[in-house]
Amino acid sequence: MAARLTLPELLAMVDAMRLRGWRVASLLVNIAVGTRILAANAAEPAGAELYRRYCASCHGVAAQGDGPVAKELRKAPTDLTTIAQRAGGRFDEAAIMAVIDGRRAVAAHGPREMPVWGAIFDAELTDQPYTQYTTLLRAKVLAEYLNSIQR
Ligand code: HEC
Repeated sequence: MAARLTLPELLAMVDAMRLRGWRVASLLVNIAVGTRILAANAAEPAGAELYRRYCASCHGVAAQGDGPVAKELRKAPTDLTTIAQRAGGRFDEAAIMAVIDGRRAVAAHGPREMPVWGAIFDAELTDQPYTQYTTLLRAKVLAEYLNSIQR
């Protein structure tokens, strides 16, 4: 049964758990359980689904930086299949989550072409309970998806 959960179902389940009194302290446990459920859903990986919806336009369906919008940008979207390769073989999931969220970007890095997904997801989810939690979960699921497609 768990293996059939889609992302919206998972998020609804997470909300339900939290309504029953789950607190911030259980956040990481929740995420660990949630992502394991998502990982088990091989037929319809939620990370891939989110990626297609929000990221493929720039980074390309195969994530190699060649989406249809890429040529309109001043800076080329990164090839997201070589993140680990460019970092000496290590995929730093927390760092990638922070890049995706984007709200703690360092000004010294210059203007960013990449949308600030943390703010976009928050705005999109604003009518739902636990907006920030869901935004965090999305960044996590996306980072895990990217990790799974490293070359
Ligand atoms: C509007 C085009 C656009 C969209 C849509 C987009 N990106 Fe990006 N992304 C970029 C650009 C351009 C860069 C290069 C850095 C910069 O200029 O901000 C980048 C950089 C990145 C990086 C840093 C890679 C590295 O090795 O440093 C990650 C990770 C990333 N994007 C993930 C995502 C994810 C996940 C999504 C979907 C939620 C997404 N991007 C959607 C344009 C986009």
